[in-house]
Amino acid sequence: MDIQIQQGDLTRIACDVVIVNLFAGVTEPGGATGAVNRALDGWLADQIADQRFTGKLNSILEVPTFGKIPAKRVLVVGLGERDAFGAEQIRQAAAAAIKRAKEVKARTVATLLHGAGLAGLPAEACARAVTEGTLLGGYAFAKYKRAPADDPTTEIERVVIVERDAEKLPAIEAGVTSGRIIAEAANLARDLANEPPDLITPGELARIAREMAETHGLRCEIWDEQRLAEERMRCLLMVGRASAHPPRFIRLDYVPEGTPRKRVCLIGKGICYDSGGLSLKPSEFMKHMKTDMAGAAAVLCTLRAIARLKPDVAVTVLVPTCENMVSGLSYKVDDILRARNGTTIEIDNTDAEGRLILADALSLAAEESFDAVLDVATLTGGCIIALARVWTGVMGNNQALIDAVIAAGAAVGEKMWQLPFDPEVRALLDSDVADLKNSASREGSAIQGGMFLQEFAGGNPWVHLDIAGTSYLDKPRAYEPKGSTGVPVRTLVEFVLR
Ligand code: BES
Ligand code: MN
Ligand code: ZN
Repeated sequence: MDIQIQQGDLTRIACDVVIVNLFAGVTEPGGATGAVNRALDGWLADQIADQRFTGKLNSILEVPTFGKIPAKRVLVVGLGERDAFGAEQIRQAAAAAIKRAKEVKARTVATLLHGAGLAGLPAEACARAVTEGTLLGGYAFAKYKRAPADDPTTEIERVVIVERDAEKLPAIEAGVTSGRIIAEAANLARDLANEPPDLITPGELARIAREMAETHGLRCEIWDEQRLAEERMRCLLMVGRASAHPPRFIRLDYVPEGTPRKRVCLIGKGICYDSGGLSLKPSEFMKHMKTDMAGAAAVLCTLRAIARLKPDVAVTVLVPTCENMVSGLSYKVDDILRARNGTTIEIDNTDAEGRLILADALSLAAEESFDAVLDVATLTGGCIIALARVWTGVMGNNQALIDAVIAAGAAVGEKMWQLPFDPEVRALLDSDVADLKNSASREGSAIQGGMFLQEFAGGNPWVHLDIAGTSYLDKPRAYEPKGSTGVPVRTLVEFVLR
């Protein structure tokens, strides 16, 4: 889907669908919506009254144009209450409108810039939000589905943002450019986690990372089994040992020109399939475990966006990746693993594998000095129980960093909630035979996971994001599709840009 910008008048653009808007409680449309209403001889206002269109956020009124303007149809999208209006409402409204445009098989769409005329909302932020909402909301993972013969799926080819005021065009251009880079990164992360596990193996993830590095001028290093052994990445080797697809460790570095203002390290859990291992998951819990590499997908795609946006911050991405499978070589309950930092771990449950491979990656990050280390992981089912599929669980060793990550999430519409740490929970992980064990009872399991990881974070400011709930949806929501959501790519990009 191509997003273009055009100076001009929405009533004069030839296209299949024109998108205008209306705040809740407004009966007489103004601005560009008013101009379309006048061009339709007041028919739009008539229909708003007639069909009792209230302007509720994301509601849509569809109106034919009877050839009075070049566009075939007008979609009025509700923006909700004026007091509650901001970038998030723009993203949602743009997504609702583009979904309807798809349903009516539009190929070309013209839209006004929702909110551009409002005080406090700069044109660049509006353009970024419209672009993100449009591209995120227009996403579908349909490559393996046959199009019905009687209904060949039409893809939207072009969305034109139409603005009268020439002075705003440079700001709009900037917003569309960054919005496109960020939304494309999130959509790519969705694709990677939606692809079947037979295709996205550790080796394939490594290949994708290397290709990304070549295209975007990133430093890239891939460790195979032999190197992993030399580097004492034993947890990753042990978790991955039962798989026919051997483990890999991926490191990518974005290095800005000049001296970097800050150094950030992003770590992603890359379990390409989580069967549970010998502590085998029951079949109904194994479903969707292809998405257990959503953290890895998120940090890789974040770096792709960073490489295109070129901030003056150095960003390192670390991805431990393997499959948690069953064979004669499976690691066992009762095994004792020694992580890269020397800590020994008693295996209580082979299904608590994410924290093991992250232990090695965090140990590695702790050997360098970073201003922030963020790990992203589909770590615990307990996090879904605690925070539904609404909030990403946030934990860490540095309150200022935790606050900064949550604030970045809030700015982009990715909800995050902090879970507390407490020595009483850490005590649950005490082991009789090793320094700690990898799981205990089910109580506070998301916090147990976080406190386990803390043992490996070292002295760097560190935050752990548990995306078990938010990386995957069983029903679509605003601009998030059913399936993989790409969370938290946009938060991570925002955090680095800030
Ligand atoms: N990948 C799972 C967590 C998960 C569950 C993600 C559901 C997405 C949806 C993780 O490896 C796991 O199995 N965690 C266990 C930990 C337990 C054994 C301590 C869990 O949460 O049940
Ligand atoms: Mn598991
Ligand atoms: Zn897992």
